[in-house]
Amino acid sequence: MPAPAVRVARPKDLDALVDLENRCFRGDRMSRRSYAAALHNPRAILLVSGTLNQLQAAAAVFFRADSPAARLYTIAVAPQARGLGLGAAMLAACEKTARKRGAAALRLEVSVRNKSALALYRKSGYGIRERIDRYYQDGSDALRLEKPLS
Ligand SMILES: CC(C)(COP(=O)(O)OP(=O)(O)OC[C@H]1O[C@@H](n2cnc3c(N)ncnc32)[C@H](O)[C@@H]1OP(=O)(O)O)[C@@H](O)C(=O)NCCC(=O)NCCS
Repeated sequence: MPAPAVRVARPKDLDALVDLENRCFRGDRMSRRSYAAALHNPRAILLVSGTLNQLQAAAAVFFRADSPAARLYTIAVAPQARGLGLGAAMLAACEKTARKRGAAALRLEVSVRNKSALALYRKSGYGIRERIDRYYQDGSDALRLEKPLS
């Protein structure tokens, strides 16, 4: 399969970003307000794949001046587009973007119950840093994972 086109999100993508988020997450959703803020935040990069009205995938990476690690805040692939390599392609694009901005590592949290995401991160070279009790709204624990980008 050819590599999917991944681009930086624009303010016009806001409705489609919120729609995708609602289709992909049952709890702990990134709010419309947070997406709107991230689209204008110089310390955030939102990447998307798909058309203006129908996004297939989205991911958000945040940077902090006091941390050498960037944070993958969210990554989601539309239910009908899963299992085709798009999640892995989005993750690779996030890593490339973070590396270009000088981040030494990419860090994220994932529910211990999220088998597909855990498999994706394991396959992509992420290691476990810590477990955080009852991190999510549904009461599940999180694993904090990290991958060095050098
Ligand atoms: C997690 C998610 C982004 C994966 O996206 P995807 O496009 O389906 O993933 P890919 O097709 O690129 O799969 C890459 C690898 O991830 C793993 N994987 C993905 N889906 C899987 C599943 N249902 N079961 C087991 N492993 C899975 C596999 O290792 C796969 O590699 P392989 O196909 O060579 O076996 C997607 O399922 C999703 O959006 N889930 C809902 C939102 C979410 O939970 N986001 C993560 C928050 S931390």
